[in-house]
Order: sequence, then C-alpha cells, then structure tokens
Amino acid sequence: MSRAFESLTVGRWQLPQSFVMAPLTRNRAGEGHAPTTLNAEYYAQRAGAGLIVTEGTAPSHVGQGYLAVPGLYTDEQVAGWRLVADAVHARGGVVVAQLMHCGRIAHADNKGGAETIAPSAVQAPGEIVTAAGPKPHDVPRAPETDEIAGLVDDFVTASRNAIAAGLDGVEVHAANGYLLHQFLDPTVNLRDDVYGGSPENRARFVVEVVTAVADAIGADRVGLRLSPGHRFNGIGEELGADLTATYRAVVDGVAPLGLAYLSLLASPLEPLESLVRDLRERFDGVVLLNDGFGDLTSLASVEALLGTGLADAVVVGRQWLANPDLAERWRQGAELNEPDQATFYGGGAEGYTDYPTLEAS
Ligand SMILES: Cc1cc2nc3c(=O)[nH]c(=O)nc-3n(C[C@H](O)[C@H](O)[C@H](O)COP(=O)(O)O)c2cc1C
Repeated sequence: MSRAFESLTVGRWQLPQSFVMAPLTRNRAGEGHAPTTLNAEYYAQRAGAGLIVTEGTAPSHVGQGYLAVPGLYTDEQVAGWRLVADAVHARGGVVVAQLMHCGRIAHADNKGGAETIAPSAVQAPGEIVTAAGPKPHDVPRAPETDEIAGLVDDFVTASRNAIAAGLDGVEVHAANGYLLHQFLDPTVNLRDDVYGGSPENRARFVVEVVTAVADAIGADRVGLRLSPGHRFNGIGEELGADLTATYRAVVDGVAPLGLAYLSLLASPLEPLESLVRDLRERFDGVVLLNDGFGDLTSLASVEALLGTGLADAVVVGRQWLANPDLAERWRQGAELNEPDQATFYGGGAEGYTDYPTLEAS
C-alpha cells in the first residue's frame, strides 16, 4: 500500500496525498517585485500538488536579496498574489507564501539601493547575481535591539497581506542561511544582547516572528521551515550540543502554538537522524521533510522518507518544477520531464510554464 498517496490533514487543509510542492525561487517576478499572470499560470499548473509553498517572498524591501524575487509589502504585490491565489484555487489547490527575509544574502543593486541587515555586521562569503553580473554580498548593518520589534512587525504585515491576497497561509523561512537562520548560527550571530550568545537567545527572534505571525493570522495556517546544520550561504553551524540546544529552543518555543506544520530540510540519516527525531517528537504536530539538494526526490525516496516514521509528508522540489502533473505521473508510473537547471533562476516562460503535462506530450 503506497503511503505517498494517502491523504493528509495539515492545519486547515485536507491534502490529496502525502507529498507537497517545495518552495522554489524562480526569479521571474514582475515590476516592483509583484507576481504576474505568468507566475499565476505556473502555480496553477501545479495545483495538483495539494499544498504549494511558494518561492521565497520578501516581507519588506530591506528583506529583498536576489533579482526579481516577489514581495508581500506593497499593494501591487498583493494584487499580483491575488492572481496566483485565484488561479490555484480555481484548480482546487492550496497555496501558502514562503516569507524569506534574505538578511545578508543580498545586494543593494537588487533592491533599489535599500540597505542590507543581518544579526551582526559579518559579510557573507561569495557573490550574488545582480543585473550587472555577480558582485560580493553587501556588508550588512546589525540592527539595534530596539529595532528587532520592527522586523517582527514586517513579517506580521506580510502575513496579513498574504491573507488579504487570498493566499491560504504562510511558511516562515528560517532555513538555508537567510535572516532567521543567520540569527540561529553562532558564527553569523555575534550579538551580545538578548538575541545573541546562548542557544535560547539566538532562537528568540525566530520564536518571536513565528508567534507574532500565528497570533495575527491563526496558527493553523502557519508553517516553519528549518535546516539544522545546513552549511549553505555561509552558515557555519556544526553538529553538536550547541546545534541541538538551539533547534530545541526554537521547536520548544513554537510547539505550544499549534502550527500547521514544521518543515525540516535535513537528511534523515545519521549524524542528523537523532536530531530530526528529537525535533519531531518535541514539535508534536505535522512534520514535512526534505532530505536536501543531492539527488532529485523520487517517488521511491518519498516512500522511503515516509517509511522512516520521521515525517508525515515529503516536500518535493525539482520534480514539481519540471512536472506540473507530477502526482498523476507518479500514480501511473509514467515518464518524467527532466528539470533544466539552466532555466531555474530567471527568464520567461521557457523552463517555467512550458514543461508539458502527460496529456500534452
Ligand atoms: C531552483 C531552486 C530554488 C529553490 N528555492 C528555495 C526557496 O525559495 N526557499 C526554500 O526554502 N528552498 C528553496 N529551494 C530548496 C527546495 O525547496 C528543496 O529543498 C530542494 O530543491 C531539494 O529538494 P528536491 O530534491 O526535491 O528538489 C530551492 C531549490 C531549487 C532547486
């Protein structure tokens, strides 16, 4: 009996199967970082995912980092997201916006000269693509303690905007080296106020954001994504007691809220298995799992991940990107389209809305 095709209740939603569509940055937002009809078509094509988590979306202008990433802080952006919400709902899907404040993974050129902030003034290694080619990441400014409440408010406003646009909820992105993850990491967060130092202090900002967002729009339409130990975008977290204590502090802080789900990006194999198991038990709610950027998630790996007992559903990225009717293809054992890496980040319809369905091919 296939576990993958069992239906599942997540927060307010009844999902048709136990795999969902991962957040995937595609750098195709329109003027003013607003979604367009092309973006709406892309998401509507994938409504069969049941739950779609959108590409990372900035909660504020300062929170932008990459080129052509959408936001949720202007009226034009809300109008753009309404196109997406209506198109997905017309096909019976559920769609939540992933709120991604990039923090130090940013360049001012990609946001009209706006400043870049991070827990501490530590520049991220490497470069970021701008319209004029790759450039080093900005040297960020560290906000004062009394500015943090304003950052929390930005997430609340963006969440209210998501609901105003007709989206079904939000996922708070605290993974993959963006602002919230930067606060968790002792090598990026060098603060000596209540938001730095101990694991509990480093966890505080994430817990405050998630709590405020849940209060604003209802916990049962809020998810949280974490990637413990994911050394991506300059994250320096190491496995060990500090990592365990930090992520326990986050999960213990949000568990009483009754969130829709916790989404973990982590290998379910040792050395991370025991931490994933521990966080799952502490969370005591629906856990979504994705085992990382290595091999493409296949139906066999969905079944294997569900079989570990560590997750209620699996988050699938590149296969949904390339196969708008992935659930149907997997159900039938049909051939799959290959994801084209060259068109992942930016461009138009090519490699975006032109992957054929089974019916069309
Ligand atoms: C093109 C691309 C864009 C991505 N953008 C995001 C993002 O905006 N937010 C996020 O949390 N993860 C992002 N990821 C990570 C995916 O959500 C997922 O964890 C990863 O692709 C591994 O799953 P897969 O093997 O099923 O593709 C991205 C991955 C890819 C390939």
